[in-house]
Amino acid sequence: MQFELYDISKTYEENYQDGPFFEGEMPTRPAIKQMQKVFDFEVNSRLGVPAGPLLNSHWCDVYAKLGFDLPVYKTVRSVERTCHPAPNCIFLNADDQFTNRDINTEMKPGERPELDEKITITNSFGVPSLSPEVWMKDIEAGNKKMGPGQLMIVSVNGTPGLAERDLVEDYGYVAAMAKEAGGKIIEVNYSCPNLGGSKEGALFSDPENSALVSKKIRESIGDTPLMIKLGWMPADQLEKVIEANRPYVDGFAAINTIPRKIVNDQGGSALPGEGRLQSGTCGFAIGELAEEVTSNLIDLRTKWKDDFVICSVGGMMTAQDLHRRLEMGADMVMSATAAMWDPYLAQRFHEYK
Ligand SMILES: Cc1cc2nc3c(=O)[nH]c(=O)nc-3n(C[C@H](O)[C@H](O)[C@H](O)COP(=O)(O)O)c2cc1C
Repeated sequence: MQFELYDISKTYEENYQDGPFFEGEMPTRPAIKQMQKVFDFEVNSRLGVPAGPLLNSHWCDVYAKLGFDLPVYKTVRSVERTCHPAPNCIFLNADDQFTNRDINTEMKPGERPELDEKITITNSFGVPSLSPEVWMKDIEAGNKKMGPGQLMIVSVNGTPGLAERDLVEDYGYVAAMAKEAGGKIIEVNYSCPNLGGSKEGALFSDPENSALVSKKIRESIGDTPLMIKLGWMPADQLEKVIEANRPYVDGFAAINTIPRKIVNDQGGSALPGEGRLQSGTCGFAIGELAEEVTSNLIDLRTKWKDDFVICSVGGMMTAQDLHRRLEMGADMVMSATAAMWDPYLAQRFHEYK
């Protein structure tokens, strides 16, 4: 049976209002043998859905009930921002894993593969946000919807070009709002590739500027656990970024989507509208690039005898993929693309022997 909890033929607004689209049976999860630790929180498991598919507290609630104990509330901003026009996700033709040579190169849309674990998509939303008035109340509601041993994480993004604050200040400001709303762990997105190559999307690979922003956020949220979301980068650059940021942050979530140019048969942008040729890709085909970054983060943590938290994200499509990353040494594992189509992924993760 195939599911489509996030319906990619619908707009972001329709998914926000009416999703997730799931009428199947709710799984009965096996008894929890041992509680796990994430920062100072006791949780049922270290499995989550990363920032993206969970558009509001209702989405977080449904996925928590499906067994994803660490749902991340989709990235919000300090100001309202509309979404790129639909479609926001398209299936891609990708039989093989991407390598770093594929980054930013062209590729074509495809069909949904027979096997869900082979799904690769591009997603392009442009980090939309409702007004803080709406999302702050909704975060409060989301926290109340979590079951015992479940923890909602809140993702935020700074916004450039505001009259009232510069970008660095806005990162601090929005993170403080997320904390005020009840965010128990704050994740900051430094790596959205769908923002037309702007500064806010490229921050993750810039050691000095990202550290400047992290310092500002740390000042504004006190000792609330802070993770920053990174994209793929080579090991030497990753080292510089982690070294510069580790005084201010508690953990690193990686990776965000891999940027590619998604072209139609005429060679134009497959996604409608300005600035959407480059678009983030995720799911099956980014697994190896994501695993490489997890492995590099673990190496750095070992080398420096540090204890920063590693939240591994990217290309985990099966329970086995998720467990493998935990066994490597990741502290949390999260699936976005797989969870959009597979309501029972968490259940299989919990039943995995
Ligand atoms: C529909 C969708 C929306 C996303 N939106 C965000 C976002 O708002 N903020 C963010 O940090 N990452 C976002 N992402 C990226 C995911 O958090 C994740 O890093 C990426 O999809 C790789 O994981 P995957 O291969 O399991 O999909 C989004 C991903 C998807 C599929």
